[in-house]
Amino acid sequence: MPHIDSITLINKGFVDVPIPKEVDLINEIKRLKKEKNAVLLAHYYQDKAIQDLADFLGDSLYLAKAAATVDADVIVFAGVHFMAETAKIINPTKKVLLPDLKAGCSLADSCPPSDFSAFKALHPEAIVVTYINCSAEIKALSDIVCTSSNAVKIIESIPKGKPIIFAPDKNLGRYLIKETGRDMILWDGSCIVHEAFSFDKIIQLAQENPTAKFIAHPESESQVLDIAHYVGSTSGLLNFVQQDSAQKFIVATEAGILHEMKKKAPQKTFIPAPVNDDTCACSECAFMKLNTLEKLYNCLLYELPEIKLDPVLMNAAKAPIDRMLELS
Ligand code: 13P
Ligand code: SF4
Repeated sequence: MPHIDSITLINKGFVDVPIPKEVDLINEIKRLKKEKNAVLLAHYYQDKAIQDLADFLGDSLYLAKAAATVDADVIVFAGVHFMAETAKIINPTKKVLLPDLKAGCSLADSCPPSDFSAFKALHPEAIVVTYINCSAEIKALSDIVCTSSNAVKIIESIPKGKPIIFAPDKNLGRYLIKETGRDMILWDGSCIVHEAFSFDKIIQLAQENPTAKFIAHPESESQVLDIAHYVGSTSGLLNFVQQDSAQKFIVATEAGILHEMKKKAPQKTFIPAPVNDDTCACSECAFMKLNTLEKLYNCLLYELPEIKLDPVLMNAAKAPIDRMLELS
């Protein structure tokens, strides 16, 4: 096994060892998973081929629950950094791998810990609820974590009258204020992918497809959510398209989810919601798409890059995640 220089790994974010052409990546990944007693957890926003290889495929909550209970030596997380970090925090004895360490998240990046500490200090009486899309440092500053599939329940579990800070996603925060009727102090963060959807183009597309239902992830902007027939997490959207009688859906979330939608409801039509910029495929999360089959193969082969966290930080970040899991 070649020596992997840790500086190169940090700079590049992944194991950049050339893979011989004759290697059958799909079969080798399956073989390595068995050999290493590893499980592959993948989010719906991953490339199709990676989703198809997953032992656990799902939304953030499902994957966090799976990470907490898997009986394997190694967890390979095909998702973004905060997801792999969460897996390590809730199951610290496992080796947790992420194919590309640079698979970050604009939402997590929009909440630097020192700024958030100062913000929190302005509202010392508030309960701090954070969306799981944040760093371990931010989780450690929180009272309870939530995902988009349990956020309403988590907010409703907080005694009425108690002030609430919600971070980092202002769009999800505004949606929760509307849904729960609770006033919340919002951190000003957002997801670049979900903010890229064009309200005008969605209206036009809906007029061209009058039988289609429009569905959206709550990380989208308020004016987009206001016209949606259904708002939900990725797994919520997936359930909705299977159960609803409509045959056509315009889908405002990362386009990777369409793969599982087409598998679960092959007779239905799914149209990705249009974005503002004609020059980019903004409904794709560039961070999620950093994970490739090649990086996944090398990650399993060399068992790198590995998520390593300070034990004190892990302990502090675990308590608010445990509170969420108890309530979910
Ligand atoms: P969910 O899969 O929990 O809906 O979250 C989507 C997301 O933003 C992942 O980045
Ligand atoms: Fe982060 Fe948005 Fe990508 Fe999800 S889709 S990982 S919130 S940047």
